[in-house]
Amino acid sequence: MEQVSLARRAARLAANIPAVAHGPTIPFDSGHGFPALFPDLTAAADKALTTHREETLQYGSRPGLLELREWIAESMKEDGADVSPDEIMVTNGAKQGIDLLCRLLLDEGDSIVVTAPTYFTSIPIFRSFDVNFVEVGQDAEGLDTGQLETTLKRFKQQGHKAPKFVYNVPDFHNPTGITMSRRRREALLELASRYGMYVIEDSPYRKVRFEGSSEPSLKALDRTNNVFHLGTFSKLMAPGLRIGWIAGKRELLARMMQLKADGGTSPLVQRIIVEWCKAGHFPAHTENVQRTYRLHRDRMVAALRRDLPDAAVVVPHGGYYVWLTLPHHIDADELAKFAAEAGVTVLAGSKFYAVSGPGTLHSEGPPKNHMRLAYSHSSLDEIDEGIRRLAAALRRCNITPASAPSERLVAHSNSTTA
Ligand SMILES: Cc1ncc(COP(=O)(O)O)c(C=O)c1O
Repeated sequence: MEQVSLARRAARLAANIPAVAHGPTIPFDSGHGFPALFPDLTAAADKALTTHREETLQYGSRPGLLELREWIAESMKEDGADVSPDEIMVTNGAKQGIDLLCRLLLDEGDSIVVTAPTYFTSIPIFRSFDVNFVEVGQDAEGLDTGQLETTLKRFKQQGHKAPKFVYNVPDFHNPTGITMSRRRREALLELASRYGMYVIEDSPYRKVRFEGSSEPSLKALDRTNNVFHLGTFSKLMAPGLRIGWIAGKRELLARMMQLKADGGTSPLVQRIIVEWCKAGHFPAHTENVQRTYRLHRDRMVAALRRDLPDAAVVVPHGGYYVWLTLPHHIDADELAKFAAEAGVTVLAGSKFYAVSGPGTLHSEGPPKNHMRLAYSHSSLDEIDEGIRRLAAALRRCNITPASAPSERLVAHSNSTTA
């Protein structure tokens, strides 16, 4: 038989999945949770499999368990967003939410707006819909709405259709850790309604806050029902649960339910979460998560100051990551290879840029000297050791950290530099 050609979206993907590192490697590359923080769900699971046996072992309802949606709606209401349970759809994690919104809104050649850099796992999802990426930069106040407005005006003048949506992580951005200011949030929503675009607010880290107070969520500021809010239990409870949600327009959720081709999100896991939340564990657990990750962040920042003194660090006030700017001449992709050989895995910043090349925001390619480090997964001792290994890898790049010139970031009002 002649070779059957793959769909374009599959043909351009790698034909193998890289092996996950085991053993003594310290993982600063992934947003995994700290295992000691995973909640004890045995009592909730027992109840789910006995009292609720018929419900949990059956196919679930399309929108998701009503009690879970009620709990989510209440929690969003406490956070200022007036959302009802029928404006919520449960998904297999926020990632599936991104995929479903793409299925709902995108045809080949449509444009979407993303920050540069952006959440790197979303990039191949967007790319599989053959989109045209419109990248917008960030500063200390988050997504640069002035730059976005200029781009949208130019787009219109050139006769292009407006982008379908703006995708952003406004709280403790992945990868930069920046939180968007209130005035930028308002400006973004104004632009979205003026130009006819949806806004996707991907918000997994909002409650993983270490200090300061929250800005209103985009959903809370949304007067025109233009915002889709993506939430998840991954970052506060456990990513293995694979439960997230989309909050948005009812009639569009109805269409996404028909596009969700997975037989439904597990009613068993949804029920376990409901029972655990109803037992009142959530507030104390959240505080513990905040306290623990704050210690992890502080430990990593201290280790970076000690061992990589010339790396500029955006110190986030929440979330899972620090974003480094290394001296100009350091190629973080090369450094990541040396670091893996030294026993610590890291992600080079170049992975977080959707496009680059002529006519794009980064016409000469993505910036080479950034790196994202996750402090979430490792213990405090591993954080110290991992940064020591990273410093050794940096020396192998033929540079001593202390002797290299650095490009320091401006201090952020919602995140600080070290
Ligand atoms: C910005 C962002 N969105 C979504 C996710 C994934 O969430 P989930 O585990 O619910 O799919 C992550 C996880 O790293 C993330 O950083």
